[in-house]
Amino acid sequence: MRLTRREFVQSALGAGLAAALPVGFFSGCSVSSKAGAVSSGFGASSVERQVADSSEIVFPKNFFWGTATAAYQIEGAWKEDGKGESVWDRFSHTPGTIKNGDTGDTACDSYHRWREDIALMRAMNLNSYRFSISWPRIQPPGSGSANSKGLDYYSRLVDALLEAKIRPFVTLYHWDLPQALEDAGGWPNRDTASRFSEYVDVMARALGDRVNDWMLFNEPSVFTYSGHLEGVHAPGRKSLWDFLRATHVVNLAQGAGFRALKAARPQARVGTAFNMSACEPATDSEADKLAAERTHAITNLWFLEPALKGHYPEAFTYLPETVMGIKAGDIEKVRAPLDFIGINLYYRTITSSPGAMERVAHAQEWLFPVRMTTGGGEQGPKTDIGWEVWPQALYDVVTRITRDYNRPVIEITESGCAYNDGPDASGKITDTRRIEYHRQYLAALARAIADGADVRGYHAWSLIDNFEWAEGFSQRFGVAYVDFKTQKRTIKESGRWYAKVVARNALSAGT
Ligand code: FCB
Repeated sequence: MRLTRREFVQSALGAGLAAALPVGFFSGCSVSSKAGAVSSGFGASSVERQVADSSEIVFPKNFFWGTATAAYQIEGAWKEDGKGESVWDRFSHTPGTIKNGDTGDTACDSYHRWREDIALMRAMNLNSYRFSISWPRIQPPGSGSANSKGLDYYSRLVDALLEAKIRPFVTLYHWDLPQALEDAGGWPNRDTASRFSEYVDVMARALGDRVNDWMLFNEPSVFTYSGHLEGVHAPGRKSLWDFLRATHVVNLAQGAGFRALKAARPQARVGTAFNMSACEPATDSEADKLAAERTHAITNLWFLEPALKGHYPEAFTYLPETVMGIKAGDIEKVRAPLDFIGINLYYRTITSSPGAMERVAHAQEWLFPVRMTTGGGEQGPKTDIGWEVWPQALYDVVTRITRDYNRPVIEITESGCAYNDGPDASGKITDTRRIEYHRQYLAALARAIADGADVRGYHAWSLIDNFEWAEGFSQRFGVAYVDFKTQKRTIKESGRWYAKVVARNALSAGT
């Protein structure tokens, strides 16, 4: 379908948005305004009462307790042992992109200190470690034969994890595209999907004898949006068209990567870590409820629905197929019957409908008519990065995905909070607010499990304080502290608390 700009505006405004949507658009979804509902917040929440009232909340047998990291955020060694340049190397080396001019050149030096990282995990009794592979460490120019030193690094890491009885839970792409592929057009270029599936094949062959659980992508809607439309992440583009095109190529890559992995390792469990958020309308108006559903579609489902159902969800006033570069036969290619759904969840999103004038004035709001908060609402406490703490969001998303996708296997691949507590005089890091965060998000998760969700694991973001993208080192998310001058790691009080939860496989009133 091809519309002129005038027809487009008419279809968005003239005919009326709600009427333009298919009957049943809201089915399976109970939309109510929660922005004003104080009772489900952090302070006097039902979640908190649940922890206080019951002596123990037990998690399923064989539950995976882990932490998560990403290559660019922790490894450093940005040009060692033949590693190629990534888009994040290029972006962070560009003045003005990262707070305080920080870069991931050294980060937490985990390329050399991974044994120390594993020792932290052992001390916390963890049985799962979600980490990512740096694609340009494996294929410096983004294609061709593998760099054996890069492979050796991950191979050693995997062996050591298995020896420590920790599941290696591998993300293939956590945002560090080889710069050479960006130079060739990057994610908006369809060829990148083929390059990705070749890289997946290389990794499946190299590690698939020991790694069984894989994620193809980390947060596809974040790196396409922040990197191609907002320009605040690598590669720093600011183009609506690049963004839309990139989303389709990533969906193609997800399908191709899935098939490549299964072809090389048929027994592998393959998913993606999707960033998700509970999308709540700002008011009870129909227009805001519609905006909340559109936001749910683009934030939570844009890379899930094509994989599982073979079509894009209803999010735009119309699907800009031409701009996205959708070709005949693509819908079969984007299909990928994922073995599990990874959910990264930090906060909720409050959405409302933009006014008519805003829709006319901004191409983006004309095409995708929603306004949304970033970092949550205004009622819960805020972490140091400004994100609202709202555990109910985890319950809402997990139960909705359970309902809408026929009770899929779910892994919580990330959740966590930035609090910049440092060591006291005795060297202890008393990050009580982080304990509260994880306690309450875990309690919300336990409720979702009790209500029927099939959740297999929880991964705290992050194992160690690290390079937080555009925020540089200014935001500490770790359950272990890193002194970036000496690289010394120290388990925080939250890490000690987590160790007890893991040992009991339960949250108890006393911990
Ligand atoms: C997620 C990213 C992760 C980290 C956390 C705080 O969006 O996947 O790399 O930056 O946020």
